[in-house]
Amino acid sequence: MRKPDIFDEIIQCLKTGEKTGADTSMSEATLHDLYSAPVRKAAPRPQAQAAPAQNIQGIPAAYAPDMPEWESLRTECAACMKCRLGATRTNMVFADGNPHAELMFIGEGPGADEDATGVPFVGRAGELLSRMIAAMTFDRKTETCIANIVKCRPPGNRNPADDEAAACMPYLKRQIAMVNPKVIVLLGAVPLLYLFNLKGIMKLRGRWLDYNGIPAMPTYHPAFLLRNPPAKKDAWADLQAVMAVFGRKPAPRH
Ligand code: SF4
Ligand code: URA
Repeated sequence: MRKPDIFDEIIQCLKTGEKTGADTSMSEATLHDLYSAPVRKAAPRPQAQAAPAQNIQGIPAAYAPDMPEWESLRTECAACMKCRLGATRTNMVFADGNPHAELMFIGEGPGADEDATGVPFVGRAGELLSRMIAAMTFDRKTETCIANIVKCRPPGNRNPADDEAAACMPYLKRQIAMVNPKVIVLLGAVPLLYLFNLKGIMKLRGRWLDYNGIPAMPTYHPAFLLRNPPAKKDAWADLQAVMAVFGRKPAPRH
């Protein structure tokens, strides 16, 4: 059995309105850094629409019939053979959630479960990501959009190679432009490297970056958090900084 973690505690606390024993406290200096987040004026956008919870005729979530350019990009990606990963994939993994969302998460690439289902972050790391999102008071399906640096599974779950990321990223960049999120969360070292050409997630996590005018917050990848549970505290601090941009507050501690 998995031990309850900081995210479970936050979720429980949100549900019951009770105090959490989890240590969510931060120094004054950290709070100052977090809450001086760059706040971009949100462009007017259509009301976020609920993506179907279930696949429709085999079409994964983040299906957007009201966004034809999104659906034609999906079709283009499904037939893509621009890099060697195309030859070994079971399913191309386009996105999950809602392309009208204001909060976007970017991971590395599909693992075995994602390759099998065509939906990002559905394995163990995905379960943790879902709990992180819930602790942020967001609804994963309707209020977030989740995508990866590469859309086809690197064999053996290795990191994507430079040429694979270079081949695939134009699709992701088009997705980011279409979603036009208010904030991007970078999950781990791979999106930090390929979207910003930066190395050093341990040092750079928690510090705002700017992606074409969109504030981007690097934090730890949930797979790393599963191997290093004490780091969940830092990830939660990073996510609270993101929440502050949306005016959402974590459950009070005391
Ligand atoms: Fe095409 Fe991206 Fe898949 Fe490579 S990983 S085949 S570039 S969709
Ligand atoms: N890890 C990722 O980075 N992306 C996924 O979709 C699943 C696991």
